Amino acid sequence: MYSSEQIQSLQQASALFLSKAKDPSGILTPGEIAELREVLRFHEYRYYVLSEPLVSDYEYDILYKILQRTELAYPELLTPDSPTQRVGSSLNQNFVTVQHLVPMLSLDNSYNAEDLTDFDRKARELSGMEEIEYCIEPKFDGASISLIYENDLLTRATTRGDGVEGEDITTNIKQIRSIPLNAAFSTYGITQIEIRGEIIMSKQSFEKYNTQLTAQGLSPLANPRNAASGSLRMKDPKEVAQRNLDAFLYHVSYFIKADNSKLLPAEPEPNSKLLQTHSGSLELLWNLGFRSPQKEKRVVKGIQPVIDYCLDFEAGRDNLPYEIDGMVVKVNDIILQEKLGMTSHHPRWAIAFKFKARQATTKLRAVEFQVGRTGAVTPVAKLDPVYLGGVTVSSISVHNEEYIREKDLKIGDSVLIERAGDVIPQIVKSLPELRDGSEAEILFPKECPVCKSELFKEDTEAVWRCINIECEAQVVEKMIHFVSKDAMDIKSFGEANVRKFYEMGLLKDIPGIYTLSFERIGEMEGFGKKSLDNLKAAIEASKQQPLHRLIYGLGIRFVGETTAKTLANSVEHILDFTKKTEEELLLLEDVGVKVAKSIHQFFQNEQNIQMLEELGKHGLQLRNEKKDAVAAGALTGQTFLFTGTLAKLKRSEAEAMAETQGGVIVSGVSAKLNYLVVGEDAGSKLEKAKKINTIKIISEDEFLQLISS
Ligand code: IVH
Repeated sequence: MYSSEQIQSLQQASALFLSKAKDPSGILTPGEIAELREVLRFHEYRYYVLSEPLVSDYEYDILYKILQRTELAYPELLTPDSPTQRVGSSLNQNFVTVQHLVPMLSLDNSYNAEDLTDFDRKARELSGMEEIEYCIEPKFDGASISLIYENDLLTRATTRGDGVEGEDITTNIKQIRSIPLNAAFSTYGITQIEIRGEIIMSKQSFEKYNTQLTAQGLSPLANPRNAASGSLRMKDPKEVAQRNLDAFLYHVSYFIKADNSKLLPAEPEPNSKLLQTHSGSLELLWNLGFRSPQKEKRVVKGIQPVIDYCLDFEAGRDNLPYEIDGMVVKVNDIILQEKLGMTSHHPRWAIAFKFKARQATTKLRAVEFQVGRTGAVTPVAKLDPVYLGGVTVSSISVHNEEYIREKDLKIGDSVLIERAGDVIPQIVKSLPELRDGSEAEILFPKECPVCKSELFKEDTEAVWRCINIECEAQVVEKMIHFVSKDAMDIKSFGEANVRKFYEMGLLKDIPGIYTLSFERIGEMEGFGKKSLDNLKAAIEASKQQPLHRLIYGLGIRFVGETTAKTLANSVEHILDFTKKTEEELLLLEDVGVKVAKSIHQFFQNEQNIQMLEELGKHGLQLRNEKKDAVAAGALTGQTFLFTGTLAKLKRSEAEAMAETQGGVIVSGVSAKLNYLVVGEDAGSKLEKAKKINTIKIISEDEFLQLISS
């Protein structure tokens, strides 16, 4: 897409624009606008298509703002493909139904080697050829779309709909940054083109999205496919932008050339060699900045290597960052494709190879109700154990009453369960046709299954809650959370010990962790001197945990690890929160109305304040030590990432060392990273970092030197 000279000059231009940004009132000359747009498009491509950004998000934002400011000063110079034009303004859009220019057909399916051999035999018979060249690529599991570019501009994006008509979702599609708003088709003499592809949500974004949904008391979605297709029809384009959607483009359905306008089926032009084969189309799309399966595709002759590639890919499907539900095998030669033609339902030149469904049926035997640390009562379906995609499943959360109703679940039902990739198993549906009349309704309790107090539900939520803060289940779950790895990380404590000590009456609340009677624990079976010493040491060490871990450990509703860090950094002492209003909390990054309310409530509660004071007396860190350290630290604001196995330090120790000097640990390689510390057997992170020349790649010893100097 970009030559190394182009990359260099775009980087230089980028740096120049950034230096200009120091003048906040500065706007560009009209001539510079076009160049800045190029620079922004280049950065979007690096980030969204290649996942190899060359500037930080912060720098990108600065560049974006200069462009916005300049466009405001010269509205006549605004172009529809400017990077600023992704953000849609139309709230509550209505989706207009439009006709597809070429019907969007489906694919025929195959399930095994015989089916594929059959497909190849028919294609050979029909074409009279002895051997056919195929292109194989993943079958992306998302929502299909059609994109039309006219004179290099994205002018229309539509859903598949019924294949003949779809809905115009152009504004939403423009939010997906891996889809270029303009692409230089004109360099191939193409004036109009329709391309097809799939909108997907990565497994990671899907899990994050579901976590958000459940935290809000809403039902999670069954799979990334539903998440992607639901997102495309969101009324507010800004919400679409937040969903982190992605797109793979895999098919050119027709194009018109400037000289002699022609629809496909067309004789490929001699100068458009790239469009004579399917693999050539993928390459052309890739060259123009689209995310096509350029690296994932394979071109082979004959059916056996097709079968091999399909099976290889199936074996590795769980390692992909996105879901695929099979492979698509396509006759590579476009003229041959035309010769083979279509049925009314599917092309004869392509076939889907469907992976074995990671689905199974089993019996729903019972539903148990669990009370979490926030008092939410979650129904959990107990199933006859069944093997599914590498794990045996015997219980599955069924979330809430509404979910149970939607899926029409009854005790005794046969249910279809599914596991999408690494994602936790879900119940797809019940199979009411298999009922024999003995099935029983799932009755939701009116009172807490643990403390028996009445359950409450807010109108805006789907979950029922026990609001008795002394409820045993909540107290225990809160303590389990407090000692857990991501919170106070009290090693060798763990869930089992919390439960055991609680049942023995040795532990009743969080401060009790610091006044445990080791004498009595020592008398218990299974506690030797060594394990007792370990436990003592771990509890003692936890007193030095930084404030953000304590805040996270308190289990305040909606406060995850990131928010806990933001909160810790905003105060000198944890009790400063008692003086903060909801409005003040709202000013913090990532803190919305609900979160602010929850934090405010927590710190207005007398019992919680008493608990914190008690923890302070036991010697826990209630101050934001980092705030003082950061000011003095030698590495203030420098970012670090560790990769590979370190010889002298544990990774957590090394990270803590960097942090005490004001360093910041980041999770991935990007242009924001200052130091990559490399241990034994470093892998892809190192490779990626080598490509970004601003990153300092150092060894463990060099890191230790840096810290001590
Ligand atoms: S080709 C005329 N290629 O699968 C042929 N389809 O089951 C057009 N799909 O509706 C389709 N990945 O939404 C093609 N690499 C791929 C695909 C793919 C996913 C979807 C597509 C289609 C459905 C058919």
